Amino acid sequence: MTPRDGPPDMPAAAGPRGRWWRRAAGTAVAAALAAVVVGGVVVAGCGGPPDYPSTLAFPARADRLVRKTPTAPPPGPNEPGKLDAELAALDAAGGTTVDPGVVPAATRTALDKHLKDVFGTPSAPTIATEPDAAGRLGLSAGKLAEGGKLFRRHCLQCHNLAGDGRGPSGYGSTPYPRDYRRGVFKFTTTGTPKPRHADLLRTLADGLKGTTMPPFGLLPEGERELLARYVVYLSARGQVEFETLAAAAELNVNVDPPAFAAGRLKAVLKEWQDAADAPPPAGVDPQPDDGDPGSPAHADAVRRGYALFTAKADNSCVSCHDGFGAKAAPRYDAWGTAVKPANLLANLLKGGSRPEDVFARIRGGIPAVGMPARPELDARQVWDLVRFVKSLPFPAELPPDVRAAVHPNP
Ligand code: HEC
Ligand code: HEC
Repeated sequence: MTPRDGPPDMPAAAGPRGRWWRRAAGTAVAAALAAVVVGGVVVAGCGGPPDYPSTLAFPARADRLVRKTPTAPPPGPNEPGKLDAELAALDAAGGTTVDPGVVPAATRTALDKHLKDVFGTPSAPTIATEPDAAGRLGLSAGKLAEGGKLFRRHCLQCHNLAGDGRGPSGYGSTPYPRDYRRGVFKFTTTGTPKPRHADLLRTLADGLKGTTMPPFGLLPEGERELLARYVVYLSARGQVEFETLAAAAELNVNVDPPAFAAGRLKAVLKEWQDAADAPPPAGVDPQPDDGDPGSPAHADAVRRGYALFTAKADNSCVSCHDGFGAKAAPRYDAWGTAVKPANLLANLLKGGSRPEDVFARIRGGIPAVGMPARPELDARQVWDLVRFVKSLPFPAELPPDVRAAVHPNP
């Protein structure tokens, strides 16, 4: 057994089932890896986190690609465990999905080989063809290998081997664990669906309140660093695969997958670099001093924020956050799953409750769920909305006129 092989209590890694893993896709891999995770925890005591079996490859994507979501709202929230059936039903509802199975076999084989050549395997992850761009993003092979091992220990059970969000202990949770392969994220400060490194670190340290995504604040910072890099790697790999498969299926011609995928990888790494270099949200600094909740200046800001929030305009906040979110109707997100506009009375902000977190959310929107950015508001208006949103769950922090409108039956 070479050092790369699994520990001795995982004979499947080297035996015939090891080869079966390589061919299997989707939940079969998830189930197999669940066993590996359990084994990994057992052996973790004697040295660093467990490695992946060297025979293990990323599975070829078999689940549907969501290209366009229906314009009508979803019938209701997602039902745990029904994801594939719900995605398959999108076409009949006016959306567009693509079954990767329609891609000609030769195209598929060429793409899978290319992906393996460029991105390696779970035990030897790399971005082999773009060493400079990858290096600038901290995605060296050494860091990815370390991050991958930590990912296997802490994240794989939900986000799964390829980052498709279909891990064995997350499949039933709603919202589903994030599928990184779409290449879009929710809680960014870049004004784009790509986060900067600090955004991913905040998600990892604090988790996403009100979802099953736990906080990893007790891990050493260096480990969160490595995990964040590995998320970028999985996302880049998945996005290149997604876009190449979509092109191959939709054009229904033999696109040259290696050439197409190579072009997409350059573009995707540039998106990540642009996010890393993005300026902070316009107007977030300096934060105005509006005094404590209850002070006259604060009350005025909350009043102005309330007026903006409830303005009768297309895409005003209240058009989605009906009843301040308490009565909000679900809508489709970029993944084709249902998402509810946040209930802002509940004091459960996923992306953080610091004033600057809420500022970034309002300024940049959450494109992945259709919440629009608001570049036209001046800084004062965004801060007014921040003061209003942060005080909404706390009747005592609202001036009496706003309180009467928000909490009519306290
Ligand atoms: C128990 C399940 C679970 C585990 C374990 C878990 N996550 Fe998540 N994660 C989720 C869920 C659920 C979401 C989606 C929440 C949402 O969309 O509202 C998510 C979302 C994310 C996001 C997207 C954030 C954004 O801005 O859109 C990242 C990044 C992430 N997780 C990274 C990780 C990493 C890295 C680990 C391991 C250190 C991990 N998660 C472990 C369930 C989990
Ligand atoms: C087109 C619909 C839409 C509009 C318009 C909209 N939102 Fe949202 N908003 C959403 C959805 C959907 C979510 C839930 C995202 C999630 O949980 O994944 C959300 C979430 C939020 C959150 C919670 C973020 C977090 O960290 O959990 C805040 C705060 C918010 N919106 C404020 C606003 C404000 C203020 C406005 C007006 C300037 C606004 N929204 C306009 C759809 C919308």
